[in-house]
Amino acid sequence: MPALDPGGLQLPFDLWSLSHSILDRMYSGLLYLTAFLASASVFPGYGGASINAANAQYLLGLGIADVTGPVVETNMMGYASLAQTDTGLHLRQRARAWIVADASNPSDRVVYINADIAMGDSGVRRSIVNALSAHYPGLYSASNIALGSTHQHSGVGGYLENLLPQLTALGYVKEAAEAIVNGTVLAVQRAHDSLAPGVLRVGNTSVVDGNRNRSPTAYLANPASERAQYEYDQDKTLSLLRFEDTSGNARGFLSFYAVHGTSLYENNTLVSSDNKGMAAHLYEYMVEPDSLPGNNTFVAGFTQSNVGDTSPNTLGAYCESPGQPWDGMACESEHSTCGNATQDCHGRGPGFRISDFESNRIIAQLQVDGAKTVMDQGANLAQVAGSVKSVHVYLNMSYHSFTLANGSTAQTCPPALGYGFAGGTTDGPGAFDFVQGDNSSQPQNPFWEIVKGAVTPYPPPEQVACHYPKPILLDTGYANTPYPWSPHIVDIQMLKVGNFVILVMPGELTTMSGRRMRDALRAKLISSGVVGDDAYVVIAGPANTYGHYVATREEYSVQRYEGASTLFGPFTLEAYIDKYSSLVPYLGDQDLGEPPSDDAPPDLSGQAISLRTGVILDNAGLGRSFGDVLKDVGSAYSAGQTVFAQFVGANPRNNLRLEETFLTVDQLTGSEWSTYRTDSHPSTIYQWERTSTILGTSTVNVSWTIEDGTPAGTYRLKYYGDAKSLTDTITPFTGVSSNFTVS
Ligand SMILES: *[C@@H]1O[C@H](CO)[C@@H](O)[C@H](O)[C@H]1NC(C)=O
Ligand SMILES: *[C@@H]1O[C@H](CO)[C@@H](O)[C@H](O)[C@H]1NC(C)=O
Ligand SMILES: *[C@@H]1O[C@H](CO)[C@@H](O)[C@H](O)[C@H]1NC(C)=O
Ligand SMILES: *[C@@H]1O[C@H](CO)[C@@H](O)[C@H](O)[C@H]1NC(C)=O
Ligand SMILES: *[C@@H]1O[C@H](CO)[C@@H](O)[C@H](O)[C@H]1NC(C)=O
Ligand SMILES: *[C@@H]1O[C@H](CO)[C@@H](O)[C@H](O)[C@H]1NC(C)=O
Ligand SMILES: *[C@@H]1O[C@H](CO)[C@@H](O)[C@H](O)[C@H]1NC(C)=O
Ligand SMILES: *[C@@H]1O[C@H](CO)[C@@H](O)[C@H](O)[C@H]1NC(C)=O
Ligand SMILES: *[C@@H]1O[C@H](CO)[C@@H](O)[C@H](O)[C@H]1NC(C)=O
Ligand SMILES: *[C@@H]1O[C@H](CO)[C@@H](O)[C@H](O)[C@H]1NC(C)=O
Repeated sequence: MPALDPGGLQLPFDLWSLSHSILDRMYSGLLYLTAFLASASVFPGYGGASINAANAQYLLGLGIADVTGPVVETNMMGYASLAQTDTGLHLRQRARAWIVADASNPSDRVVYINADIAMGDSGVRRSIVNALSAHYPGLYSASNIALGSTHQHSGVGGYLENLLPQLTALGYVKEAAEAIVNGTVLAVQRAHDSLAPGVLRVGNTSVVDGNRNRSPTAYLANPASERAQYEYDQDKTLSLLRFEDTSGNARGFLSFYAVHGTSLYENNTLVSSDNKGMAAHLYEYMVEPDSLPGNNTFVAGFTQSNVGDTSPNTLGAYCESPGQPWDGMACESEHSTCGNATQDCHGRGPGFRISDFESNRIIAQLQVDGAKTVMDQGANLAQVAGSVKSVHVYLNMSYHSFTLANGSTAQTCPPALGYGFAGGTTDGPGAFDFVQGDNSSQPQNPFWEIVKGAVTPYPPPEQVACHYPKPILLDTGYANTPYPWSPHIVDIQMLKVGNFVILVMPGELTTMSGRRMRDALRAKLISSGVVGDDAYVVIAGPANTYGHYVATREEYSVQRYEGASTLFGPFTLEAYIDKYSSLVPYLGDQDLGEPPSDDAPPDLSGQAISLRTGVILDNAGLGRSFGDVLKDVGSAYSAGQTVFAQFVGANPRNNLRLEETFLTVDQLTGSEWSTYRTDSHPSTIYQWERTSTILGTSTVNVSWTIEDGTPAGTYRLKYYGDAKSLTDTITPFTGVSSNFTVS
């Protein structure tokens, strides 16, 4: 529909001319639209669109870009497992961006980024903010850019700035961080270039089967009267902001629903985007079936909410202990153990009889169905109206004092992780003899009491007292060698668009923490006159900085994984409620200037250690060329079957092929080959294997599982590689399978 040409917006470097160019653009857009509608044959008798256009209070922009780092020889982020080193690609990781500007005052704008990464990070965010504020002076800043995440556990790791999350990745992986920064900046630029007048609508629905509480015994520690207000021990609401053009056509959406990105297990080594990235792909594909992944204009957003104690493994946790009497039984509930150890206790997703990939697809589809239920209500959804505002400060959480609701003073603590942290979760169990739910001050294993001092400093008494009753395993707040292990300073941020307020949180709030946070802030926003009592208040996180978990004080006392990972001690949630509440007036219509802020966290990138070596050399092997077919496809296939070919390969780290692909399934149309599938379709898999480190030889597997409804015809598999010579030259090449038919 040729409503408003999204391309070609100029980017003048001063604000005055920028607002004029936007207003001019809007004006010519309106003229165009009016003329369009006046040609009565287009919309006979439909005047609503022109009224909408006149009412379009916002300029809306949406963009998407590729953020996939090295898909091989790099540790994956989320489960913190040294063994989880990537070997290929299932789905590319994307960053998606939504911009909302107030049409009458376009410098009032917010940018929400939903990246298919495990969590936001101060270093990555700093680079993104620097790039965007340099490119668009006066428009984008630390205040109005929020870096949210899908919290997936199957993406490329090594990009976080603090030392603890780098440990399993052998330090900092520069290409991984750069891919995220470059791709995210590109997504925001694309969103900026697509800014056009539009309408926002809001709605919600329930997605009951999409999540389950993985620490129900900790949830039970919350007061019975509080629990009685809720039907479930999980939030089931999916809230959604619908982005539409002035004619009411949907351009995309941003939705909020809490479920961990742990559908794919710790033993998966294919880079993917887990259930939320999959949901976004499925939705975008449904709207634009002819666009290749990442080349769509409709942008679907499935962002993470109070994810802390949620699991997509909705069938519960069972013992996988072959030969033991408890094999196949439910895990012990308080500590999630099987035979007193956590290792065999695994959560089961809805597709577990088939595979974790099937569970991933089901949890994704449930979120797609929920989003579609809201989207399909179209003009029946409430329209969003009101100003666009943002507020952001840094907060130093080490011994931060504040006043509790009852008038007493409380404080947060320097970062530390408890024994229950090393117990892991039923989505990814821990190691050794650590279990969840360990709040005992008596050492369980004297060996660890000695060893832990070699890893991080022994906590001083004030730190032990501050974190009580958490038994401290890793005193990361006192571990600053060679650079800080955990962040001390977090980002506190809120975005407001009319009556829709996003609490951008530097961590993973549990279900009940999220409810307390949301309710307290909603009440404060309404009583301060910032929003009406029709307000939607949602939580987004883990965003901006990774401050680990936020459990309620009652859950904290039990010290399951979420409590043991509540980094800043028992009063973390109360401190956030206090701080966010104090910033509410900055979202009001009165201009209060910049709020006071602690210092920004130090830039650690200059000190980052990386032990990961680069690619040395690729070699095709004697008598072979790069791209040669080692195992060819068969000749005839039908839907449901898998086509496989193996090629003489080269290390994909030589070229990440961002915005491109490592493989295609080509379809013969007439006498021309056209791209039918890429490496980002869930039906294709790319795998790489080094066959000789000394010679530098490697192989690549390409497979395609033929979807139902694939048109009958002739196809082939194609592999795109890049080989590195001893002189460091990188040369692209391709490999092509034989033709085959699909009937
Ligand atoms: C990111 O962008 C910079 C600047 O254009 C470029 O030098 C760098 O190679 C890019 N990194 C990746 C991983 O694409
Ligand atoms: C949707 O939001 C409204 C207003 O906040 C609330 O009353 C209702 O319970 C929500 N519905 C669902 C399904 O969560
Ligand atoms: C991966 O781990 C899950 C959970 O333990 C298990 O059911 C599955 O069989 C494993 N997959 C492979 C390929 O080992
Ligand atoms: C992406 O879309 C643009 C315009 O819609 C088109 O010109 C381009 O060829 C597409 N690229 C691919 C790889 O499909
Ligand atoms: C688990 O621990 C309990 C209590 O210490 C003990 O009685 C039981 O034998 C242990 N079970 C196994 C399988 O080790
Ligand atoms: C954070 O606050 C603590 C306690 O006041 C102080 O010792 C520390 O230097 C501060 N950290 C930073 C990075 O400002
Ligand atoms: C206020 O609440 C805190 C946390 O529950 C408690 O420790 C403190 O004693 C209370 N203070 C008063 C004056 O009741
Ligand atoms: C430790 O957790 C148990 C429940 O598992 C609880 O009954 C007890 O009060 C907790 N101890 C402390 C000191 O909070
Ligand atoms: C590639 O496929 C072969 C089977 O032909 C298999 O043995 C090998 O493990 C696969 N490589 C990878 C990296 O999965
Ligand atoms: C595959 O199909 C193309 C197009 O018809 C043809 O040019 C080519 O020779 C075929 N290749 C083989 C190996 O049959």
